[in-house]
Amino acid sequence: MAGVASPFNLDAAPVSGPAARGTEDALTTLVALVHHDLEACNRVIVARMDSPVALIPQLAAHLVAAGGKRLRPLLTLAAARLCDYPRQDGLCQDGATRHVDLAACVEFIHTATLLHDDVVDESRLRRGLASANAVFGNKASVLVGDFLFARAFQLMVDDGSLKVLAILSKAAATIAEGEVLQLATQNDLSTTEARYLDVVKGKTAALFAAACQVGAVVADRPEREEAALAEYGMKLGIAFQLVDDALDYVADQATLGKTVGDDFREGKITLPVLVAFLAGNEREKAFWQRTIETLDQQDSDLDQAMRLISEHGAIDATLGRAKRFATEARNALMIFSDCPIRQALADVADYTVQRIR
Ligand code: IPE
Ligand code: IPE
Ligand code: MG
Ligand code: MG
Repeated sequence: MAGVASPFNLDAAPVSGPAARGTEDALTTLVALVHHDLEACNRVIVARMDSPVALIPQLAAHLVAAGGKRLRPLLTLAAARLCDYPRQDGLCQDGATRHVDLAACVEFIHTATLLHDDVVDESRLRRGLASANAVFGNKASVLVGDFLFARAFQLMVDDGSLKVLAILSKAAATIAEGEVLQLATQNDLSTTEARYLDVVKGKTAALFAAACQVGAVVADRPEREEAALAEYGMKLGIAFQLVDDALDYVADQATLGKTVGDDFREGKITLPVLVAFLAGNEREKAFWQRTIETLDQQDSDLDQAMRLISEHGAIDATLGRAKRFATEARNALMIFSDCPIRQALADVADYTVQRIR
């Protein structure tokens, strides 16, 4: 790196950091299958994070070195391999690294959204470390997030495919729409489950879907396979966010690597809250209205929220929904022939839900 010396080794195990532990088993299998591609992707990430403006690589490195599961780039790499890219028959192999560059592009989009999301959510912990906004401030986080978005677009342009550009730029716009829609539902207990799912699809699942779809696009596969991978990613992403929303109330903070209870303190409408609110008696409804709608909260309120969520089986209900989406994700892969990559992707769908155990 020209801006600053790289303070970390991205070739080291990519599935690292406290947030990763729960999913380690399924992801380890997937990582093993695309190991070389992932190392190449990490090298692209380091190279493209560079800037002569030292604060940019410093801040980006703080977040990237903290680990992260690399789930989305893994999906791009695995989807491409599932679609036989680069081709294993020896044709067109030289320089066939589009999937690697696009995987890095996908991680840049994700990282940019994390930087912005932690400012908006006022989160102090990310990947087991103080969040970038906590260390460098909100202004630097927003601006470096913009830089990473711009870098992602440069990688798309370098790829040269208008179709890839269309898919990933649409995903980037949809994520922003999802985050704004979430802002509009915040503190509003009349939000329906359908609207909540719209938020989840926008802010999280759209990028999972795009990450998978571009794997098929670089391999020049038929529309049907592209659609199947996009469907897999969409359903996987929904399951993933539902579980994330459950974890926000029940996780062990050190394992999660994020502050438990952030959603409650922000008055976010997530499925655990909706289920508990709708099942609650008048007194409980008044509790949710005070804490979530008017944000009039005391120290003991998070414990009370957790108690009500548990009493009404809201975590199990959320996980039940997540399991259904994970099964749909798994089923979407069935048009592909059975192979280790298909199996690993299918297992990732299950582990996305099981990471809460
Ligand atoms: C965090 O995603 C944002 C959500 C969609 C919940 P990850 O849990 O994949 O974050 P990292 O990249 O592994 O830290
Ligand atoms: C994640 O939503 C969505 C994006 C990062 C776009 P959350 O706000 O639930 O993610 P965490 O919990 O902060 O990782
Ligand atoms: Mg957040
Ligand atoms: Mg969350």
